[in-house]
Amino acid sequence: MRSVLRGCGSYLPARILTNAELAAKVDTNDEWIVQRTGIRARHIAADDETTGTLGLKAAKAALADAGIPASEVDLIIVATATPDHTFPATATEIQAALDITQGAAFDLQAVCSGFVFALATADKFLTSGAAKTALVIGAETFSRILDWEDRATCVLFGDGAGAVVLRAEEGEGTLADRGVLTTHIRSDGRYMNKLYVDGGPGSTKTVGFLRMEGREVFKHAVVNLADTVRHTFEETGLTGADIDWFVPHQANRRIIDATAHKLGIDEDRVVVTVDKHGNTSAASIPLALAQAHMDGRIKPGQLVLIEAMGGGFTWGSALIRW
Ligand code: UT7
Repeated sequence: MRSVLRGCGSYLPARILTNAELAAKVDTNDEWIVQRTGIRARHIAADDETTGTLGLKAAKAALADAGIPASEVDLIIVATATPDHTFPATATEIQAALDITQGAAFDLQAVCSGFVFALATADKFLTSGAAKTALVIGAETFSRILDWEDRATCVLFGDGAGAVVLRAEEGEGTLADRGVLTTHIRSDGRYMNKLYVDGGPGSTKTVGFLRMEGREVFKHAVVNLADTVRHTFEETGLTGADIDWFVPHQANRRIIDATAHKLGIDEDRVVVTVDKHGNTSAASIPLALAQAHMDGRIKPGQLVLIEAMGGGFTWGSALIRW
């Protein structure tokens, strides 16, 4: 069995926050942000929007794109580090809003690697026969856990959501099959204090703010991302030259460029959206996938490589034939 990607969709809040606006609030400037990160703008959720409402809009768009009714979905995984409530899962909120009363819905926490972890998890359910149709959503409202006085972090992140619909279909068991071909996920908790939120129900009983040692994360990111993809290449016998589209986690343009270079993937086969919405954590890959799918860049049958790295540390990659 293969988890075939049947549709994808995304949603970005209407409010756009520019670098110039941020420069009026903290000691930063457009030149620094663009040169160090490639980010020009980010979207910020309105007061009446939540991770759940963002995720629901992306999910509806993905289902419409797939032409599959919500009633057929029997697995919903929401990758998020900014759930609407400590419990229940934002996934159950979206399940109810879609009038789905079958199957299971749960959240998955791997911060910026969340979408890759969620895709890998859904793939196990679908290929084992435990579920037939899955909605995998990455949705975040990072604007709500940012310290807006900390210029080292507040300029980097934004809000948004993306989703894909996966369906279990029989393949031939070869790399020519459509669907998820391989996934690799990793974590190493020794680095948890390099990128974390300084609050939580079990510790401070508050939500807390994001804290990051950016330079340290940067260093590990390029090494770990290249390493996870190396496993994919070793397992499949493919090389960077075989990849039609590289859709990395959108954290920093410099990390994206360095990783693509290390993997031997040309710039014109890399999907970059970080300039428009900053780092949207678990939402960033499905946002970029939806963009490149909608504008016709990614075509059926093409090989798409995704990868991400985030707090924990967590990191991972997946190879998908579209
Ligand atoms: O998705 C989860 C994973 N997260 C990431 O992938 C983020 C990884 N890290 C990064 O993207 C980069 O490390 C940053 C963009 C966060 C920072 O870039 P950097 O080139 O590593 O800069 P830095 O942290 O070494 O800071 C350089 C200078 C410092 O000043 P001094 O010490 O050289 O005087 C900072 O204080 O830039 C200063 N700085 C700023 N200046 C203007 C830090 N933030 C800002 C700012 N505006 N917003």
